[in-house]
Amino acid sequence: PTIYVVTPTYKRLEQIPELTRLAQTLMNVPNIHWIVAEDTNTTNTRVVEYLKYTGLPYTYLLTPMPQKYNDPKYKGKGKPKGVANRNAAIDWIRNHATEGVMYLADDDNTYDIRIFEEMRYTKKVSMFPVGLVTQAGLSTPVLKEGEYYAWYDGWIGGRKFPVDMAGFAVSVPFLLTVPEAMMPYTAGYEETGFLSSLKIKPEEMEFKADNCTKIYVWHTKTHKNSPSSRNILNKLYDGTNLRLLQ
Ligand code: UGA
Ligand code: MN
Repeated sequence: PTIYVVTPTYKRLEQIPELTRLAQTLMNVPNIHWIVAEDTNTTNTRVVEYLKYTGLPYTYLLTPMPQKYNDPKYKGKGKPKGVANRNAAIDWIRNHATEGVMYLADDDNTYDIRIFEEMRYTKKVSMFPVGLVTQAGLSTPVLKEGEYYAWYDGWIGGRKFPVDMAGFAVSVPFLLTVPEAMMPYTAGYEETGFLSSLKIKPEEMEFKADNCTKIYVWHTKTHKNSPSSRNILNKLYDGTNLRLLQ
């Protein structure tokens, strides 16, 4: 089965470095299709050039966040980061795929290639631990004698499925049976909202990674370079002088 890896992304100084790490992981995974959905109205040629370079089968989508969530007057709890991107990619899968599995892989996480073989034969929804989520450092299903028992996460927040975006994969044939499933624009509740919309019970989920005892994905966060560093570079370094090194 093909793994449809869905990656929301947006322009910032760290974008190409993040995509480099993820791409060079994916270059070691057979039979994938990378759907890169960017939060913009206009094609980012640097991203497209990089995608071509990788040789990976890819689809590049323009998926801007609805303007109202960027309005400073927006009253919600926070920006629904990557939601427009993921919903558009889910629609793309509905229109183009008939088999395989979908994985929502943010551009800044760290993935061990073993996670992809864990999810490849998902029947409905498979689950696995994610490291470095919240101060607790881990978000994972808790099993008892190999069966679902509870969820462990540093922030439960009244969520039915207190899991991270990187902690589950959905079979495409199963996704196609739930045409109304989608991700809500509510920061913090995207995962639980999407899994609830799939109308799946924990008892029907498949628990992977050695009964959820192995971590193959981490919610790493990249330190952001201040945007002013670009201005400093432009001002102090013209390609000939060495003032930055002094
Ligand atoms: C956490 C979760 O891991 C995300 O899956 C969830 O969408 C997010 O919180 C949330 O609840 O808002 P976090 O590390 O805080 O993620 O967020 P980012 O990694 O900054 O963003 C998630 C994804 O959306 C990334 O792939 C990022 O490239 C993309 N993004 C972020 C956009 O497309 N537009 C933005 O303005 C910001
Ligand atoms: Mn992140």
